[in-house]
Amino acid sequence: MTKTSELIAAQVKAALPETIQIRRHLHMNPELTWREHQTAAFVADRLAEISSISVSKFAGGLGVVGVMKGEADGPVFGLRADMDALPIFEKTNAPHKSCVDGVMHACGHDGHVANLLGTAKVLHNLRQHIKGTVKFIFQPAEEGGAGAKKLCDEGVLDDPRVDVIFGLHGWPEEKLGRIILKDGPVLAANAKFWMEVKGRGGHGAFPHLSYDPILAAAQIVTGLQTIVSRNVSPLDPAVVTVAKIHGGTAVNVIPDSVILEGTIRSLNDDVMKLVCERFEQIASQIGVAHQATVETKITPGYPVTYNDPTASKIAREIIRGNVGEESVVEKAVPSMGSEDFSYYLQQRPGAFLLIGLQDPDYCPSLHSPLFDFNDKALEVGMNAFCNLALNSTRFVPSS
Ligand code: NI
Repeated sequence: MTKTSELIAAQVKAALPETIQIRRHLHMNPELTWREHQTAAFVADRLAEISSISVSKFAGGLGVVGVMKGEADGPVFGLRADMDALPIFEKTNAPHKSCVDGVMHACGHDGHVANLLGTAKVLHNLRQHIKGTVKFIFQPAEEGGAGAKKLCDEGVLDDPRVDVIFGLHGWPEEKLGRIILKDGPVLAANAKFWMEVKGRGGHGAFPHLSYDPILAAAQIVTGLQTIVSRNVSPLDPAVVTVAKIHGGTAVNVIPDSVILEGTIRSLNDDVMKLVCERFEQIASQIGVAHQATVETKITPGYPVTYNDPTASKIAREIIRGNVGEESVVEKAVPSMGSEDFSYYLQQRPGAFLLIGLQDPDYCPSLHSPLFDFNDKALEVGMNAFCNLALNSTRFVPSS
């Protein structure tokens, strides 16, 4: 450990009890996507208590950004936390269980917010060591609302212009104390689809007088599975899942139409494009073969979350050198989950860290009604963020 990292570790320890309280307060008061009014106000109040931070608002007040200037010149270092909760009935017995029926922090964004507020507090106490500026970005609507895109469109990465940006996510598949920080793709691009297969309904006893959309739909489901096996390279991961199929009302009736819905995912934006093109071709042509018409709507979700290899390498060196050699996991399998942090990484170099939550060997999965962010991971996250921020000049050597 270096002298500065020892200072950080001591400050993080001192800030931990209040940070845990904040995390539990947020856990008890979850708010859904695009409704984070109380959370945003809470964050703005906490930031306003830190004298070195100037606060601004984005996305109609639901995005809160704090800017802290160090005492020397240097790059603008961005850190981001997402704030929204999920429509899930919490089933934990935690004393800080959700007070809102049917809404809970099942993705651990309460932990992300507390972690970034704690980081801001520690960096304020150590601001004589900051070379440049730190920008703390608290965004709404990660859970399907693309809050990150909204903030990027509103210029959150400008004025002052962010040079490099980092975010993190609590990770139930990794052990407490370890951080997954890999190069390249970490999380997948996603899209959802809706499809209607229209035939001509009729009596179940006279199929020759109908165009059966159920038979067409069944062959479409099978045909779509050839995209991953026959169009995408075996070395490129991709997923096509038909998750819903609805058609028919009675045992002796051929229906007029069948609705199919599902998800498409990939770790490469070009592969995603190919899958979507083939998806529409296969569905419509199988429809033609069955005298059915097929209408397909593919709604793009988030792009691939892609860690800049140079920024990731430097960040690993900083964390290994300051937090511990064993603290970083470099070789990890990407997840087919998605994240809107991808939008920041499309515009600036940086990386997304996955912070281990397993303690000692189990943590309920993200989006489970039993999930609860592990407070012990806050120490890991704050140490990582603070060490990266105080070494920000290493990411932008020219500044
Ligand atoms: Ni999440």
